[in-house]
Amino acid sequence: MQINKLLFILVGFGLFFSCKNERIVIEKPNIIPIPSSLKIEAGQYNLTANTAINFDDDFKASAAFLKAYLSKSFQIKTKKEAPTNTISFKKDTLLSKAEGYKLRITPQLISISAANNKGAFYAVQTLRQLLPATLENNTFEDEKINIPCLTIEDEPQYEYRGMHLDVSRHLFSVNFIKKYIDALALLKMNTFHWHLTDDQGWRIEIKNYPELNTIGAYRKETLVGHYNDTPHQFDGKKYGGFYTQDEIKDIVKYAQDRHITIIPEIEMPGHSQAVIASYPKLGCTLSPVEVATKWGVFEEIYCTREATFTFLEQVLDEVLELFPSENIHIGGDEAPKTRWKTCKDCQRRMKTEGLKDEQELQSYFIKRIENYLNSKGRQIIGWDEILEGGLAPNATVMSWRGIEGAITAAKAQHKVVMTPTSHSYFDYYQSDNEEEPLAIGGFLPLEKVYHFNPMPEALNKAQQRYIIGAQGNVWTEYMPTEAQVEYMAFPRMLAMSEVVWSQAKRKNYSDFISRLEHFNKRLKALDINYANHLYEVEGELQSKNNKLSYSLKTLTTNKTIRYTLDGNRPTLNSKIYDAAIPILKSTTIKAAVFNTEKQLGQTFLETINYHKAVGKKITLNTTPHKAYSGSGKDGLINGISGSHSRYGDKEWLGFWGDDLEITIDLGAITKINTIKTRFYNANGQWLYAPEEVIVEFSEDCNVKDKRQSVKVKNRDSLLSKFNVKFEGLSASKIRLTIPNYGTIPEGKQGAGNKAWTFIDEIIVK
Ligand code: ACM
Ligand code: ZN
Repeated sequence: MQINKLLFILVGFGLFFSCKNERIVIEKPNIIPIPSSLKIEAGQYNLTANTAINFDDDFKASAAFLKAYLSKSFQIKTKKEAPTNTISFKKDTLLSKAEGYKLRITPQLISISAANNKGAFYAVQTLRQLLPATLENNTFEDEKINIPCLTIEDEPQYEYRGMHLDVSRHLFSVNFIKKYIDALALLKMNTFHWHLTDDQGWRIEIKNYPELNTIGAYRKETLVGHYNDTPHQFDGKKYGGFYTQDEIKDIVKYAQDRHITIIPEIEMPGHSQAVIASYPKLGCTLSPVEVATKWGVFEEIYCTREATFTFLEQVLDEVLELFPSENIHIGGDEAPKTRWKTCKDCQRRMKTEGLKDEQELQSYFIKRIENYLNSKGRQIIGWDEILEGGLAPNATVMSWRGIEGAITAAKAQHKVVMTPTSHSYFDYYQSDNEEEPLAIGGFLPLEKVYHFNPMPEALNKAQQRYIIGAQGNVWTEYMPTEAQVEYMAFPRMLAMSEVVWSQAKRKNYSDFISRLEHFNKRLKALDINYANHLYEVEGELQSKNNKLSYSLKTLTTNKTIRYTLDGNRPTLNSKIYDAAIPILKSTTIKAAVFNTEKQLGQTFLETINYHKAVGKKITLNTTPHKAYSGSGKDGLINGISGSHSRYGDKEWLGFWGDDLEITIDLGAITKINTIKTRFYNANGQWLYAPEEVIVEFSEDCNVKDKRQSVKVKNRDSLLSKFNVKFEGLSASKIRLTIPNYGTIPEGKQGAGNKAWTFIDEIIVK
């Protein structure tokens, strides 16, 4: 091999060493998720066609995986005895965790030790990440690979490391499901939660109930645009399909070979409209319905007649044949009780079973199913609504509506998987950029996923044991294509892998970003359509000694930020950002990241509206919800408005169920012409604008009527407006009293839960 080729291959590692007379720069390994410990040592191992693999019998499968992987580029042999130039797999029963491993690379040998084949498999995934990305897609053209000597000792923090995928709202090919599973394996995830049934389509072949596949698997058309758009529009095209049992067996085996458990989800009692479309006798009204064509929550849920349980038991019998997982997900979320309240059979069931309300009827439903599955040696897992009306005795809870469900369940000694919307919903927007593809709403940037701590602080040590892990969810209402799923899932799945695998003390976001920049080459080689927001600009308004300035930053190193203040797009000739920009008046900042040749990411835009409350004093009667605390209370008067489409960005503050009282102290008697703000009104995501706001002014106000009640406008659209004008008014303080909307009404998404209030910049002019 020529030395320049060697140099090329070694870009990717980070230490200096001498090779003949050349000094070669080797970067540090860029492993995701970061291992528990990694020690770089002197020297390197040369992997060539003469390298052999030998293994203890227990590790046959992992050795075969590695051999198949390397054989695309090398003619690797397997040998029983091969003392040098070998990759060897050895059993080490002393390793503390079943999934742990030790990977040692010396100039003579790559040695993998693990207590079992699972650990060995993870060692192989780490080794794979030490090799050039070109091995992933068969474009590696050299004769050897130099790997730096090192020792890695590694083990996971959580036993449940999951990713979910909804194939009901949109359906994806068998090959794509395998590709998704491959990515999970590369990231040492071990659970694939397969959301197979929902209102918009039933996706698993059930031989006993063929109409689930001829009727339930197809919808006549699909909503176009966003659910919040009015009026709703449809594409007029039939959509659907399902996975045959043979395809499912093939996928389950494929996952097993990669140490991934597939947990199938069969939703009940809600999200069942596709079933009721197939078999109307399973609904309360017995009337025909159609497979849902739009998103949301539907009232057609399973009736609690015996026929439903017979049906579900027979369906589950076929599910259990296909899926060997100990846990079966039975849904349990978002089941409106409207039909049950007026159904004579359901009401009779409540009487005969002594159930006091429909919540208890849901609990009865879930417990019956749990009983059935327990009798077959399986356990149930369900969304946190299964806590309501009494938790089934052995159930695992998937906490999605915040973390309260997790805390309740863990205290009751039930296992919990953490998947709160605030940190785990990868269908939310990941960037502030208005050019992002349409998404459900919300805002969950990579950094927020990365900093997710699955362990609720409210739990003591004994209770913490019940938090078994976490999972990223990919709901696909707004992901019609496989490329779009990849865009939303990557790189947030990488951040989640580090949340569940890596030790908290080993995590560091800027280090993760630098590893991600390298990892992206691997994702590209794997033909994964990852989102790349590494080269975007982030801005922050700062206030020091009553002076405002605006700072810019970008995630990666060795790049330049250039900006303009005149409204033009920045170019290679624009001013280089080197210090915070003083803000003395209303200002528009445009900025972008450049290397020496071109702009790398999107153009950043920030508009600062220098109104009369900017930089003044603000007090709140309560604190925003931890998950939506944005830039804090000062963010309500920092001159910057929140995004039109992302209520979770840092300029919106979210409050869950609280009535608000906001006081702005302008510091001196000030003429006030208008006060404006906005409320996010995404009812599908449980956000409701208040009906009215009470405005009050301080004692020094010059008008008699110091208190007024003002109706909030546009309450039927996504952004509701509070806008009030005054004539000849001056005052030094303003107080806004904002009542929470209250409980979400029946028939709406999240019915029975407290509504959120999301408030934007309060603009005083
Ligand atoms: C859910 O997002 N409905 C579990
Ligand atoms: Zn009924």
